[in-house]
Amino acid sequence: MQNLDQIALEAAAAFAATDDPDALEQVKARFLGKNGRITEQLKGMAKLPPEERKSVGATINQAKEAIEAALNARREAIRRLALERRLGEEYLDVTLPGRRESRGGLHPVTRTLERIEALFGSIGFEVADGPEIESDFQNFTALNTPEDHPARSMHDTFYLLDENGQVAEDILLRTHTSPIQVRYMQAHVAKYAHLETMPEIRIIAPGRVYRVDSDATHSPMFHQVEGLWIGENVNFADLKGVVADFLRRFFESDDLQVRFRPSFFPFTEPSAEIDVAFISGPLKGRWLEIAGCGMVHPNVLRHVGIDPEKYIGFAFGMGPDRLTMLRYGVNDLRLFFDGDLRFLRQFI
Ligand code: DAH
Repeated sequence: MQNLDQIALEAAAAFAATDDPDALEQVKARFLGKNGRITEQLKGMAKLPPEERKSVGATINQAKEAIEAALNARREAIRRLALERRLGEEYLDVTLPGRRESRGGLHPVTRTLERIEALFGSIGFEVADGPEIESDFQNFTALNTPEDHPARSMHDTFYLLDENGQVAEDILLRTHTSPIQVRYMQAHVAKYAHLETMPEIRIIAPGRVYRVDSDATHSPMFHQVEGLWIGENVNFADLKGVVADFLRRFFESDDLQVRFRPSFFPFTEPSAEIDVAFISGPLKGRWLEIAGCGMVHPNVLRHVGIDPEKYIGFAFGMGPDRLTMLRYGVNDLRLFFDGDLRFLRQFI
């Protein structure tokens, strides 16, 4: 049966010529598979006389074992080759710095809002909230803003569309945080209706507001912080004291001038605008408007069911975006809302 040695040699040569594991399995089938050449030989034994079968069988098995050994050796060689190839292609530079999870941080305006809440919290102001989609009544009418007031015009206010695609003139994006005053006072009055004298109202209300406006110091979405203090004996001097003290604490500086400039708002009388100027530093001597304020108008109190003969107080509306610009020396408001990480990362 020199034929068998021949087959074993051919198998070894075919294995050696293969360097891919799948191809190797196909070559194996050619010799050891169901119709493989060794299997044919084993089948052929049936035709032999019985006395020859034993020795022929042993020889075939020897050849089969030799082929299997060659196959295993080749499998191992191919595996090692693949590993060596990978090791040659890929490498690990253990001297590279590790990849860290990057740390997030609070938006600079959020930092300002948290700071404002903490500072006013320390003198007994609670934080109040309200919806960004408001009714015309809460945003304007209840705040003593007449029908023909320019703020109601479509140039300033984002009105929403109704289901027919028509402008719904009584639903809008709030143009200021002042409607939160109205909502809070209404709820407060209802809550303490059973008392002869209601407890004082002392709140701040931070939130997003919307106006049709965009340049370096105006963005169509911006923030305001409303303040309200209503009691039996709250006067303009309290307003000045609270605001001036807040600003000094906010900027961590006594190097600050605060000025109340007469102004007009429908919901306050008298009204003022609050300006600050730094006494030193890069912004030295420039007056910057940071809030509107005043004594709450009796009509506003009447609208929410508070007796203006008995209660009195002040309100203000501050621009925390402006405060943030001043605190960090940022000169374009829109940078806060572009979402550019190169800018925002500086505040982490
Ligand atoms: N709501 C005013 C605005 O958006 C700001 C303001 C002024 C709020 C005077 C007040 C206030 O509460 O008393 O321009």
